[in-house]
Amino acid sequence: MNSAPVSPVATIDGPSGSGKGTISRAVARRVGWHLLDSGALYRLVALAGERSGAAPDDPDRHAALARAMQVVFGSRSDGGEQVLLGGEDVTVAIRSERAGQGASRVAAWPQVRAALLERQRAFAGPPGLVADGRDMGTVVFPGAALKIFLTATPEERAQRRHKQLKDKGSDVSLPALSREIAERDLRDQTRQVAPLRPAEDACLIDSTGRTVEEIVREVLEMGAARRLWQL
Ligand code: C5P
Repeated sequence: MNSAPVSPVATIDGPSGSGKGTISRAVARRVGWHLLDSGALYRLVALAGERSGAAPDDPDRHAALARAMQVVFGSRSDGGEQVLLGGEDVTVAIRSERAGQGASRVAAWPQVRAALLERQRAFAGPPGLVADGRDMGTVVFPGAALKIFLTATPEERAQRRHKQLKDKGSDVSLPALSREIAERDLRDQTRQVAPLRPAEDACLIDSTGRTVEEIVREVLEMGAARRLWQL
């Protein structure tokens, strides 16, 4: 029987501040593949909940929002990302630390994870997909052709987030950020459903002290070795 070829997926998972967003975007752009920023979907669910007045402890209401919310991932004329929720530009709002904490809270609910599963899988399509998140290689795309688990020391991750937020004009103290990152790591790693952990067949990359270009090159070479793309 002839089954339609499934388009390839490369997954990049890891904790916050490990650099997976930057690396995923760069790799997807370089090879011309689609990009799934799954964390943005969890951030959008948290934001949609807040904006619709949903009780912060109501998983079913948030799961309904996860299914119904109208999301558009696009780019601005200057090439930067743009995210629309129900037609409203929430690009900046979803990147706040508050939205990150909200995302990590709603992400612990099985109903919300189930509601987002098919939505995430629908991003796969020719010529291929780079999927960035926490459970891309373990749950959402277990058959992915290339799985990366990106890490960095907690200190370096906090410093990166601090710089990112400062560049965007937010004034968050480094110790406060370190505490928040540690809290989020713990919640992501210890939740019952789809906890943050490397897939058994994932390649581990420690990005501590290394440049974005070095990591991008390493990922590109791994994909080329698996014949996913050519360098
Ligand atoms: O990657 P980002 O920081 O945008 O993700 C925000 C939060 O969403 C994470 O802390 C995590 O709790 C949750 N998340 C998840 N599974 C994913 C992506 C993100 O649980 N695949």
